[in-house]
Amino acid sequence: MSTTANDAGDTKEDIMTVTIEQRPEVHDGPPKLGPEELRAAQRRTLDSPRMKYGLLAKMMFLPVDLMYGKRGSYTKFAMLEIIARVPYQAWERMGYWALHRHRGTSTLAKRVVGRIVEARSDQDNEQFHLLIMQDLVQRGGHRQNWLLHRAAPWAISFFYYHVSWLLFLVKPELSYRLNAEFEDHAEHEYMNFVAENPELEFQPAPGTYAAEYGHYASVADLLRQIGHDERVHKLDSLANLPAPRFHQSRA
Ligand SMILES: [Fe+2]
Ligand SMILES: [Fe+2]
Repeated sequence: MSTTANDAGDTKEDIMTVTIEQRPEVHDGPPKLGPEELRAAQRRTLDSPRMKYGLLAKMMFLPVDLMYGKRGSYTKFAMLEIIARVPYQAWERMGYWALHRHRGTSTLAKRVVGRIVEARSDQDNEQFHLLIMQDLVQRGGHRQNWLLHRAAPWAISFFYYHVSWLLFLVKPELSYRLNAEFEDHAEHEYMNFVAENPELEFQPAPGTYAAEYGHYASVADLLRQIGHDERVHKLDSLANLPAPRFHQSRA
């Protein structure tokens, strides 16, 4: 049998192929729902009261309502999606920091990697929400000016990012709680918007990101799916509350 050698001097016969059954870098993200499940999810949200928002959440919602209007719109949602990704980005950064600190303890390091993977997956999910909203803004011919749609989201994201990681450093449950409130707000905003605009049931979803995000018959269903994603994000954050620190068990 002939053998070939690589740069390290290993022969072909020395190199083993390892199949990884569970790819640690892959996270499923929120489930994709069918039309009936989406309607049930919307009803559940509309029937449940909003969370009691704290001062920090109100400090973000108030200027957003003042600048973009109290009612939902694609431009307002696009703005909210820019900042929605921020806490996950902050937690990912804190995760890498913790990984470096606890690199000598494999069980702990493994748990931290799990949290990093989850934070990255949630960032991707929020990114698709933003892309879909931007697509709807452009198709609707809605105008976005520099101050409201560039400068303001940047300023609020800057504030939110630093608040998120600082809270996580001091008391992680405060950071998870703040995100849960933000997600609860988003969940209700989307589901209410669909309820207030019944014509969306008859508008076909553009499908620009169907390959990446899923196929939906109407814009109403597409927005219900996004609203349900926000609910899952909220529940994930609330699930982290009892054991918010990396070095505690999440069981
Ligand atoms: Fe979102
Ligand atoms: Fe979200």
